[in-house]
Amino acid sequence: MSGRIPQAFIDDLIARSDVADVVGARITLKKTGKNYSALCPFHNEKSPSFSINPDKQFYYCFGCGASGNALTFLMEYDNLEFVEAVEALARSQGVQVPREDYRGNKKSSQEHQEQKKQTDLSLSCMEAAQNYYQQVMQQDAGKLGLDYFRSKRGLSNALLESYALGVAPEGWEGLKKHLTQAGFSEALQIELGLLVKKEDTGRVYDRFRNRVVFPIRNSKGHTVGFGGRVLDDSKPKYLNSPETPLFQKSQELYGLYEARKQPGRLDRLLVVEGYMDVVALAQQGIHWAVATLGTAASEDHLKRIFRLVNEVVFCFDGDAAGTQAAARAMQTLLPLINDGRHARFLFLPAGEDPDTLVRKEGAGLFEQRVNQAMPLAEYLISYLRQGLDLNLLDDQTRMAHAARPLIQSLADGLLKRRLITHLEGLTGFSSDDLQSQNQVPRQQVYQPLKQSTSKENPSRTLPAEEKLLRLLIRYPDLVNQVPASLEIEAQRNESAQVLHSLLEYLRKSPHITTQVLLAYWSGTNEGEAFLQRARLALELNREAAAEEILAISHYLINRKTEEQVEARYSDLLGKPETTQLPAAEMQELWKLVQQKHLKSEDK
Ligand code: GTP
Ligand code: MN
Repeated sequence: MSGRIPQAFIDDLIARSDVADVVGARITLKKTGKNYSALCPFHNEKSPSFSINPDKQFYYCFGCGASGNALTFLMEYDNLEFVEAVEALARSQGVQVPREDYRGNKKSSQEHQEQKKQTDLSLSCMEAAQNYYQQVMQQDAGKLGLDYFRSKRGLSNALLESYALGVAPEGWEGLKKHLTQAGFSEALQIELGLLVKKEDTGRVYDRFRNRVVFPIRNSKGHTVGFGGRVLDDSKPKYLNSPETPLFQKSQELYGLYEARKQPGRLDRLLVVEGYMDVVALAQQGIHWAVATLGTAASEDHLKRIFRLVNEVVFCFDGDAAGTQAAARAMQTLLPLINDGRHARFLFLPAGEDPDTLVRKEGAGLFEQRVNQAMPLAEYLISYLRQGLDLNLLDDQTRMAHAARPLIQSLADGLLKRRLITHLEGLTGFSSDDLQSQNQVPRQQVYQPLKQSTSKENPSRTLPAEEKLLRLLIRYPDLVNQVPASLEIEAQRNESAQVLHSLLEYLRKSPHITTQVLLAYWSGTNEGEAFLQRARLALELNREAAAEEILAISHYLINRKTEEQVEARYSDLLGKPETTQLPAAEMQELWKLVQQKHLKSEDK
């Protein structure tokens, strides 16, 4: 794994790149005075409301509110993760992305080079295998496979091409001969799982034989593994590449690369069970489905998904296995959910899977099912109450008991609070009971301040700095609401310290999104602190947040003035009695006394 990208490099990169160039390379721009305008690529529109300001280096859409800089545009438009977007931007400028070395784990550059050469060789071997399977599909040896894809599964040539599907021929050594002739060693082919070596006899032969094959591509589009299906009812129905240095099943999602390559912004992803489901959905125009590779969705899978989209829909067969899989998915999902992320569960009618259903009813109806899928909260409740009679005290207790670990794994936020309230109603247990107070309490996130002297603190429960911090992390561009005169006293408390760094950064880069913000700081102490806040509840919509940010800023500015007055007052009063205050200071003291007096009358 390579190290972090230095922040200074990213700053430079953004400063050097031209947002108009980056956007202009992807959509048609029209010059309008100093600015550019275009049809917004992020929502459907007939007249242009997307505008680029080259002076300030940002874009903004008056229609849908999309905004950002060159980097965020790449993330949103090309569906890239933060680091990928940095790499893409660097590539377009012809510069190398530097990496900070991990301490203690330094590899010499020679070792690096060596490893890279090895990886490149492995990747080209996999690519050669993929090409071979694709070629076979066009030949006599692949005719049955091609027929299977076309007539049994209804796939078009274009679809076969875009997923690079192919056919492994009958016989034991087709691939082996081909790759060996191309110069790849047998050992490498074995290591990559393309060939199998029989332990007892030592015989070496093709792993995939007489099957249709699905290349599994990583996020860069390199093929790292294969899945293969038989053409009839023989067993095993599917074979997958084993885990190799290139391929880890808990990391890769089938169809993700292809989904991201589609033009337009990915808003959500559908997680289905099989290869066939992904390609059948794509054939019908639903290009945003991905499949795990014969395993349950892992935490890593879900993290990858949430780095790209805020909404995930899990699709399950309507049988017992589907029900079980759903429960497992929910448990992996809960710790990753926060108020900005949504998950839903789609249960298909018995006997159907996405492949059969979408071919039967078409994309429109299938999409309607997706839109009506059960939200996580509803699913969680129905999961907990199934088989219980909540008129019985015993069953209420059972439900509360089962609910506790699930609630505990959820991050604090609106969803959690809503669920607790609902469960209170269903079980009769209090929120404290439901949150299993007999377990280790969660780590305190912030230190509540002592009662503040002023009554005007807009937040009664959180220190003002903490609240401002959370608001700005949720809506970074609302930094424009913070008056330039606001200075944060970093030494005041931890919130103030984090807020100080954030504000300094946002004042320089006001058009950043939360995602970029978090990615940019990831791996630093501030980054951790930001991430923590990003997970915490925010009840405010954008408008209310803007007002609140303004209000807190003024509160902080006033508080500072008040404290300065107070300090000066005690300073003047604190002088030894024998000293006679000079006239000017007497005057000042008198003014301060009056000010304080007026204030206490207000109250
Ligand atoms: P089709 O019969 O081709 O439509 O497949 P399906 O996707 O409907 O089948 P199923 O629900 O049985 O399988 C879903 C996924 O589980 C497949 O895409 C494979 O990844 C995996 N799988 C299914 N059968 C096997 C098997 O026999 N061995 C292995 N290793 N994986 C399998
Ligand atoms: Mn199927």
